[in-house]
Amino acid sequence: MKWETFPDHEALSERAASILLDGIRADPKIVLGLPTGNTPIGMYARVVAACAREYHCFRDVVAFNLDEYVGIPKDHPGSYCSFMQHHLFEHVDIDPKNIWIPNGRAPDLKVECTRYERAIKNAGGLALTFLGLGSNGHIAFNEPGTPFESRTHVVALSESTRKANAAFFLDQPVPTHAITMGIGTILDSREIVLLASGAKKRGAIARLRTGEQAVDFPASALWNHSNVRVLLDV
Ligand code: GLP
Repeated sequence: MKWETFPDHEALSERAASILLDGIRADPKIVLGLPTGNTPIGMYARVVAACAREYHCFRDVVAFNLDEYVGIPKDHPGSYCSFMQHHLFEHVDIDPKNIWIPNGRAPDLKVECTRYERAIKNAGGLALTFLGLGSNGHIAFNEPGTPFESRTHVVALSESTRKANAAFFLDQPVPTHAITMGIGTILDSREIVLLASGAKKRGAIARLRTGEQAVDFPASALWNHSNVRVLLDV
């Protein structure tokens, strides 16, 4: 694991954006794994600004989101679909057919999970995946207890995770379930960048640094991967 510490969220976002943009420059058809949450917002803002200058930046990029809530419409302000449109997709020239986000309203969620795994495989696998970090150590929506070899699946969200995301759901309770890439799906990405920002992540980062791998701490699965960078400002 390579650790990079930054003085603040701005500097962290700058570095994250440059890793993402370098990935696209090296392979304009790169397959990305993309996160939501507050942490990557600064990264996306910088990527959008750079792509306004770089012609056809996202034209051939393929993007798979890590997760999505179950049961809310795509255009609900709390959906990750809305988040991604607002922060990235509607500002860059990505081809809509290359945008992949699990469908949390699929009639059969198990079939949807299988379809998502197959789509990642058909695209050639994830090349570069960015992750946020839950304060309980979750990555994507893989809550504590998720097996390290898990694939895309439906999860029941923990109370702490639902609370942490409550600001996006003013008109209704935070959904109780989500579809998430599994830890195994994420570990198959050829390169992983974990972003951790703010004092609330201090405990999780301290635990990650110990190197101990434990199923009640999903981020610790990243120690099984040979190309992980952790960018932090805590
Ligand atoms: C949600 C997302 C995670 C994200 C986490 C942290 O739970 N599903 O992928 O990492 O929030 O969010 P934040 O960056 O706002 O702390």
